[in-house]
Amino acid sequence: MKLMAACKSLFVAASAAALCLAAGEDAKLLPDGPGKEIVVRLCTECHGPENFRKVRHDKDEWTDSVADMVDRGAKGTPAELAAVVDYLAQNFGSDSKVNVNTAPLQELKAQLDFTVPEALAVIAYRKDNGSFKEWRDLLKVSGVDPQKVEARKEKMGF
Ligand code: HEC
Repeated sequence: MKLMAACKSLFVAASAAALCLAAGEDAKLLPDGPGKEIVVRLCTECHGPENFRKVRHDKDEWTDSVADMVDRGAKGTPAELAAVVDYLAQNFGSDSKVNVNTAPLQELKAQLDFTVPEALAVIAYRKDNGSFKEWRDLLKVSGVDPQKVEARKEKMGF
């Protein structure tokens, strides 16, 4: 019984460590720019960056969304929160493209309408073959609908 409990807590610790590592990797993939460090510190404590990468909002909407997170427990000075809003409006604004080399599954799904298998194929492909340079490179990913790729090419960034 004691052994079981020890294993269980080890397992929980290992899963938490794996989650932290994964979240750290995802945070590194966020676009560089003013405010990034603050976003990583304030906004990846409870969930990964996919929560905010998967949406596109204008500045007013990001202001509301960040206020909502403060209600849920996010902490930051007014200046830090303003920097977060600016970063998000800049990188995940209404017209922001989707960086297909760094976008997590949820962003590929929500912003480019890829199915889960298509998004997973894109992620596996870039991991094995390195960065996509242009939209046509996505045509090489087997299992991804080529018409969908072409229709979304203007929304893609590299
Ligand atoms: C204290 C915990 C906490 C912190 C810190 C936090 N969030 Fe959240 N956030 C949540 C919870 C809980 C949800 C809803 C459940 C989920 O989707 O994970 C959520 C969901 C979201 C969503 C999706 C909203 C929706 O309606 O689906 C966005 C966008 C978001 N967070 C952005 C941010 C941003 C930006 C920051 C940094 C300012 C932040 N979060 C910091 C707890 C937090």
